Amino acid sequence: MKIEVQIGPVSEKKTPCLLVGVCEEETDKARKENILRLTGRDLGKIFEEREFAGKHQQTLLLHMGAERGCRRVLLVGLGKTEAINIEKIRRAAGSATNLLKGIRVHSFAVDVTSFLSEGDAPEETIRALGEGILLADYRFERYQTENADETPVAIENVDFCSNDGSLERALRTGAGMAQSVCEAVCFARDLVNEPGNVKSPEYLAQKAQEIAAKVGLKCTVLDKADLVKEGMGALLGVAQGSAREPRLIVLEYVGADPDEDPVVLVGKGVVFDSGGISLKPADKMDEMKMDMAGGAAVLGTMLAISNLVLPRRVVGIIPVVENLPSGTAIRPGDILTSLSGKTIEILNTDAEGRLILADALTYASRYNPSMVIDLATLTGACIVALGHEASAVLGNDSDLIGALMESGEATGERLWELPLWDDYHELMKSEVADVKNSGGRPAGTISAAVFLKKFVNDYRWAHLDIAGTAWEYKGGHYRPKGGTGFGVRLLTHFLVNLAD
Ligand code: BES
Ligand code: MN
Ligand code: ZN
Repeated sequence: MKIEVQIGPVSEKKTPCLLVGVCEEETDKARKENILRLTGRDLGKIFEEREFAGKHQQTLLLHMGAERGCRRVLLVGLGKTEAINIEKIRRAAGSATNLLKGIRVHSFAVDVTSFLSEGDAPEETIRALGEGILLADYRFERYQTENADETPVAIENVDFCSNDGSLERALRTGAGMAQSVCEAVCFARDLVNEPGNVKSPEYLAQKAQEIAAKVGLKCTVLDKADLVKEGMGALLGVAQGSAREPRLIVLEYVGADPDEDPVVLVGKGVVFDSGGISLKPADKMDEMKMDMAGGAAVLGTMLAISNLVLPRRVVGIIPVVENLPSGTAIRPGDILTSLSGKTIEILNTDAEGRLILADALTYASRYNPSMVIDLATLTGACIVALGHEASAVLGNDSDLIGALMESGEATGERLWELPLWDDYHELMKSEVADVKNSGGRPAGTISAAVFLKKFVNDYRWAHLDIAGTAWEYKGGHYRPKGGTGFGVRLLTHFLVNLAD
């Protein structure tokens, strides 16, 4: 999809549909005039009778007939004026886009001014509009070969229109930022939605190499022989049950002084998690193709910051394995020696994510990081704690956690902190090794982070458990069913706003 910017009289715009934002209060008086001007109709009765009241994400489609440039006007509710925020704009834009796709409208125009509210930076609102539209337009349809004329269409063109010439700069930068970041979110979503039979560790490594070549990142891939040479016993332990060999992907972006200590991003890349010998129940096991969503978020973020030419040094590390049961798989009771030299007693082969992250976190030290942020679909317990509304954040630096939480609010990819007090360390003590890989039922998300912390050297560190947010089950507004690409917008926002 292409977003174009147009300055000129919006009421004369020729388009299959003009999208207009409407607040609840507007339905009585103030900007009702705007609607009158754009549609040539007094919609008083419709508002009075509450057919349409401007409630958030409510929609009303009007057919304009031949006398006007626009064939349709779609009103979308923004809710109460004082309650409008950036996320509501995103969701309203997403809902409107879904409606238009459903009625097979290929292109539309947006009356941008109707979405702006006093006190909010226009560029931010315009960017949110763009994100809502681009992310709602996403579909994963590679494997649907039939009934193409019955499914919703993709949107080809969107014109961002305003009468106000002074908005031109904000329109261009807002729309441009939305496109740069959403390309990366959709790339991450594609990877998450791709089925397990297709996305081997080798496939993910190849995808990383492709984007690296496209945007000029340095990409290094360690194969099994390299990992053996390095001594990544924890990662190799998880991988040994699968016929498909593991990889460690390292991407480097240098947008600043090459001697600057980089931010290192680490993403869990389990292409399919059956649980291994501690096999998961069959019901919903198919969902575990999304267990590489942390890795996808890191790949997506590396793409986004390259698109945005971020003035920073950033390294992405993605350990990629498949967790399967077989005659060569690790068993409960096994003891693995990690890259750090620490030994790990395996109590549950389904607690595999932390094992591959352990070696990746040790490896991260080589880059002398200014900070390390890891993302992982790590624990079912995180879904019990926070549901699908937020990811958990834990770490060793409250400033870093605070800044990440702020980016979460700004992007609608919310985080909530869980404690990492020393008292929890008891949970992961092993009788026979340095640490065990499962602490049982209590505080499952925290005990997983306690495990990771054992492998964090003296750098600032935050861990995001995205088990509840990486996959959308219901589908709505700008999040279609399937992989969400969670983390790409959050991390990109965080990196862009990183203070010197
Ligand atoms: N990939 C899963 C966690 C998960 C569950 C992600 C549901 C998304 C949705 C992870 O590898 C896992 O199996 N964790 C175990 C850990 C336990 C054995 C200590 C869990 O949460 O049950
Ligand atoms: Mn598992
Ligand atoms: Zn897993």
